[in-house]
Amino acid sequence: MDGMREQFIKDSESCASIQDVEDLRLKYLGRKGILAQFRKNVDFKALAPEMRGTFGRNFNELKKLMESTVDTLAAKLKDTEAESSAMPIDMTLPGSGHSLGSLHPVTLVQMELEDIFMSMGFIIETGYEVEEEYYNFDALNTPFDHPAREMQDTFWLTNKMVLRTQTSAVQVRALEKYGAPIKMIAPGRCFRYETLDASHENTFYQLEGLMVDRNISIANLISVMKLLLVKVFHRDVETRLRPGYFPFVEPGFEMDIKCLICGGTGCKSCKQTGWMELLPCGLVHPNVLKAGGVDADKWSGFAFGLGLSRLAMMKFGIPNIRLFNSGDIRVLGQFSASV
Ligand code: FA5
Repeated sequence: MDGMREQFIKDSESCASIQDVEDLRLKYLGRKGILAQFRKNVDFKALAPEMRGTFGRNFNELKKLMESTVDTLAAKLKDTEAESSAMPIDMTLPGSGHSLGSLHPVTLVQMELEDIFMSMGFIIETGYEVEEEYYNFDALNTPFDHPAREMQDTFWLTNKMVLRTQTSAVQVRALEKYGAPIKMIAPGRCFRYETLDASHENTFYQLEGLMVDRNISIANLISVMKLLLVKVFHRDVETRLRPGYFPFVEPGFEMDIKCLICGGTGCKSCKQTGWMELLPCGLVHPNVLKAGGVDADKWSGFAFGLGLSRLAMMKFGIPNIRLFNSGDIRVLGQFSASV
């Protein structure tokens, strides 16, 4: 029996696959296997009675050893084979690339504007998207019964809160916080309950500008507006200035730029006018300065509310504002090179 045990151990050590283990099992433990043949050939009656118990115990031990060895080997090789078949290595396959994300075109223009204004000493404020009715309207010389409240389709919330309709809501907050003099911009998201078209979204970006100092005039306002357009477009763009009414400026203006989608001939983006409404502005109304705790007799200022989403349309030649919020990767993916 010792010879059989040694041979079995030797054979088991050379098993390299599940098939080898199965062959081993059949060879030793099968119905016609070595163990069965051995058992068959032993003549029990010929054994001395005191030897029969010892023989039986040795035989059963050997059988158990063979069975447990076969089971352990089978389990081990099964795991190894499963692992290697789950991760086949094919050295000829090309590597899997990782595509880079990109910044949103509006974010790119916003970052560019922030750089331009910071270089002129402006600070950057953000304000709140969910804003108090007071800062969005009342503090901006637009009391409850003022007809100008009708100019903006507002998402009203409860407790005198609104989704801000304009970044102008940051003006009085900034005046309260810093007083005068101040030079600040406030880029951010605004919301209006609008009918959508190529240049109107319900969720869009503006960039507010506010400068308050001694003797600020329209000349200061116009020069900053023109400078910012030259810096953003890296060339002169044709502009026009016309009177505009906003309760928080006096006088008020609208600065439009020649539509860069159609070159001024008229298209859907500019409502066939050839001009894009982009930069409403004016001199800060004394009531706004007062609301911010600033003495209107000593200080004066200008403010503007740049349509940031529309500026991004013009800069990148995007004809429809709705593409910005569409999440369409074919549009947004084109800006990856700009990051
Ligand atoms: C305002 O919101 C004023 N707060 C701007 C202002 C600030 C005037 C400071 C004077 C002093 P208006 O409603 O025109 O104004 O919007 C400003 C700009 O935001 C527009 O010229 C336009 O470019 C952009 N805009 C307005 N509504 C939308 C909209 N629904 N979708 C996309 N852009 C819009």
